[in-house]
Amino acid sequence: MTRYHAMREVPAAAGFKEGDVLFLCGELFGRGYANGIVDEARAKGMTIIGSTVGRRDTDGTLRPLNAEELASAEAILGGTIINIPLEAGFDMEPGKDGVTPVDRLKGVKPDEWSKVTLDQDELNCAKERGTERFRSNLAAVIAQLETMLPAKGNLVIVHTMAGGIPRARVFMPILNKLFKGQGDRFLSSEAFWNSDMGQFCNMSFNEVTADTFSYLIQATAGLRERCPVRYAAYGYHGTEVLINGSYTWQSYTPYLQGWAKIRLENIATAAWEQGIKATVYNCPEIQTNSSALFLGVENSLYPLLASLQQAGEKTVVAECQGLLKAGVTLNDLLSCANTYLSSELVTSTRDYDTWPQHNSPAQQEYMLNSSAQLIGMNEEGKEIICAVLSRGVFRGVGKLMFESSWDPQAPVFWLNHDVIAKRLAS
Ligand SMILES: NC(=O)c1ccc[n+]([C@@H]2O[C@H](COP(=O)([O-])OP(=O)(O)OC[C@H]3O[C@@H](n4cnc5c(N)ncnc54)[C@H](O)[C@@H]3O)[C@@H](O)[C@H]2O)c1
Repeated sequence: MTRYHAMREVPAAAGFKEGDVLFLCGELFGRGYANGIVDEARAKGMTIIGSTVGRRDTDGTLRPLNAEELASAEAILGGTIINIPLEAGFDMEPGKDGVTPVDRLKGVKPDEWSKVTLDQDELNCAKERGTERFRSNLAAVIAQLETMLPAKGNLVIVHTMAGGIPRARVFMPILNKLFKGQGDRFLSSEAFWNSDMGQFCNMSFNEVTADTFSYLIQATAGLRERCPVRYAAYGYHGTEVLINGSYTWQSYTPYLQGWAKIRLENIATAAWEQGIKATVYNCPEIQTNSSALFLGVENSLYPLLASLQQAGEKTVVAECQGLLKAGVTLNDLLSCANTYLSSELVTSTRDYDTWPQHNSPAQQEYMLNSSAQLIGMNEEGKEIICAVLSRGVFRGVGKLMFESSWDPQAPVFWLNHDVIAKRLAS
């Protein structure tokens, strides 16, 4: 298990400048984490080059973006996109018998998950094919990137890929119960994880969330001979937030991507030991397209308001204040979040060494009810406080990652609420 290593001080300003390049491995979405570092690079006049996961046609064929999709993706990025599909994973790759994992699950009903058996050899074969496709497309992307690099200058490679929920229809109702089910609709994440379908998810998460970082480091070995290269990736391994007035490590439960995120940390550590500047930055819980499924993940975002107040930050705090329902104060909101985060139901399984933990009916119910109560403190119809705080976090994280990447100091860092608030206030 990776040694816990928090960034406590804001790093010195980065010396990146015009002529340096930031390459984003993973597609950029409007409210995604990577916006923060891309904005920093743009502000410094760096050249921004992006990538795409590609799109699937209705017959399942993976293709590059069409002209319209490419124009809109490049407008979001503010840079050129190398238009070769970098979708990772193997859920739609055929096995030896020509059947894809997704097709193997056709017709399975959500309540039959525990009875499904999946042939491991067939899954391994699909996985090998998926890896091969990804690596060969990645090699083509990197070859194109190389032609776009200036003769001199720095290269920052940012890995933002995470995911891998298999696209078989049956997964959505199951995962909705697993993350959002209460009472009769509760589903044990542990029971699911130990099933064949759960272990298929495990393989898929490892491939998409973790191993793509390793493939990326390998595929760019040639670039490291040509110019100084730093790698930065987004991790998650719990976050320190203010609970009862002190910074305390806590985590969202059940975070089933957790094992893949530990694997990601191990990949950075192994690369670092070979002299490669690869760093995983473990980031706080925020709301993005990818975290929308994990309702309650945002409960631990609210204490950031207290950190910001302590650091003397005023803009984000004022914006949040303006979104509260009449009669509700920031103190009410903070106190409700603190009650949740210090409740026995949440603290009894809080343990760094055995992370990630599985859900239990009472814990999940309390988490979801607290989430609803906290969201209910927003004035209806307006933007919600979590969205403002999420933007603040990805901006702060972007600045810290950018600055830290100038002279990287370690393969794994935790960016907690303390240092993010400090950075946003400065
Ligand atoms: N949202 C959070 O609370 C949170 C917390 C800590 C770390 N992170 C990490 O931040 C990073 C960015 O995530 P985000 O939350 O900003 O969401 P996002 O949806 O904006 O980004 C997810 C990225 O993963 C890519 N992706 C998804 N499936 C893929 C596949 N099969 N193949 C290739 N690429 C794929 C997407 O194209 C996108 O670039 C991820 O590594 C995520 O785990 C998120």
